Amino acid sequence: MTGLGACRTGQARTPSPPAPGSLDPGGNPVSTIVAPVSRTLPARRVAAPVPVDPAPAGRGPLDVLGVPGQVNLDYAATAPCARAAADAVAELLPWYGSVHRGAGALSRRCTLAYERARQRVGDFLGVRPDDHVIFTRNTTDALNLLARALPSGGKVVTFASEHHANLLPWPVDTVRLPVPGSADAAVRAVDAALRELRRGTDGSAPILVAVTGASNVTGECWPVADLARAAHRHGARFALDAAQLAPHAEVDITALGVDYVAVSGHKLYAPFGVGVLAGRADWLDAAPPYLVGGGATRTVGAATHDVGWADGPGRHEAGTPNLLGAVALAAVCEALTSVDRAALHAREQALLAHLRAGIAAAPDVVELRTFGPDSPRVGIVSFVVAGRDSAQVAAELAGRWQIGLRDGLFCAHPLARRLLAEAAVRSGRADLPPTALRASIGLGSTTQQVDRLLSALATPR
Ligand SMILES: Cc1ncc(COP(=O)(O)O)c(C=O)c1O
Repeated sequence: MTGLGACRTGQARTPSPPAPGSLDPGGNPVSTIVAPVSRTLPARRVAAPVPVDPAPAGRGPLDVLGVPGQVNLDYAATAPCARAAADAVAELLPWYGSVHRGAGALSRRCTLAYERARQRVGDFLGVRPDDHVIFTRNTTDALNLLARALPSGGKVVTFASEHHANLLPWPVDTVRLPVPGSADAAVRAVDAALRELRRGTDGSAPILVAVTGASNVTGECWPVADLARAAHRHGARFALDAAQLAPHAEVDITALGVDYVAVSGHKLYAPFGVGVLAGRADWLDAAPPYLVGGGATRTVGAATHDVGWADGPGRHEAGTPNLLGAVALAAVCEALTSVDRAALHAREQALLAHLRAGIAAAPDVVELRTFGPDSPRVGIVSFVVAGRDSAQVAAELAGRWQIGLRDGLFCAHPLARRLLAEAAVRSGRADLPPTALRASIGLGSTTQQVDRLLSALATPR
């Protein structure tokens, strides 16, 4: 099953609050300290911090590192580091040597580790045999690279709901489609836009449709395979921003039928500073190098412009690469490949449903959404507390409850502003703040952590 399929099957439902003494979906005891939250909560509650359980144990390489007592509900910004990543880095550190630049044993080992990492990440993403897997710094870097590789005269189609990383790198004449009201409407909008762009042409101009797999604001999943099919019907290509989808569900380029995929290591339980652009080789090999310098060249002559650029990933990876980042990311990819991802997904969906149910019941809290309330989504929820400044709420959650989450417009200003306006209409509240809060969960998240947030939201100031 592809990531989208998994996303589709995992619809959030509204469960009953857990009974005291019961187990959460990961088999951890559900906190009995926090009472189920409802709109009719008594006026006074104990504000003392609730003890937080450790991350669920027993998954070995996919245990996440963290600081005891700190509740990380900000996985969508940066996920904690998985043990697999930390171990891979620790193992390689004594072998520290140059990559692609030395004949010594250390250097050869590092070069091999780097190229193996490329292979493993490519396998994880289900690349086709002739696709390139290019290491970048992050998703932003990957999408900027793809923008630079657009053939001349190429057009881009995207949605106003995208993260800035998938809005801003594209040419100024990019078609930015309005935020659709449903997954089906998104597919229809792409179809209509491409028909319009192709009208009166011979259909050969390059067009790229670039869309996210899961929204960083709402967690909602986009109909990736259907969008890619719509693009291909019109002879266009499809780029998937999988920064938020890949940490939660399988992303397989071949199965989804997409042409390019971009991910960030730091959202995939690996360290900062590594990302990937994977996909069709032809545009990438024809484009000027994204970075110029050592490693991107085949030959350099005496004259300034006498340069033969390399083909393949090296063309866009000038300079000494981020070996440890690549190896750490590959280790996480391997660990994720060898576990039952459907089970992980189901566990996360149950926790997400608990979080959303609690948020829906908390006083004055309004959730943000683009599609219907039951549309498939990954472990991300954005919301506002009516009458409260979101930055102040976030600061209070951090200071008083040791809960880390995100506030603001989440680098998706057009979407976040629109959803805030819609939330005001839907809730009938005139006192919604101009920015939002976002809670996001993943591998190390527990019911107790979610309950702590719900308890904090239910506690009067
Ligand atoms: C959907 C989406 N795309 C792209 C990005 C950019 O990722 P990075 O900051 O790792 O480049 C993010 C980051 O939050 C994101 O959520």
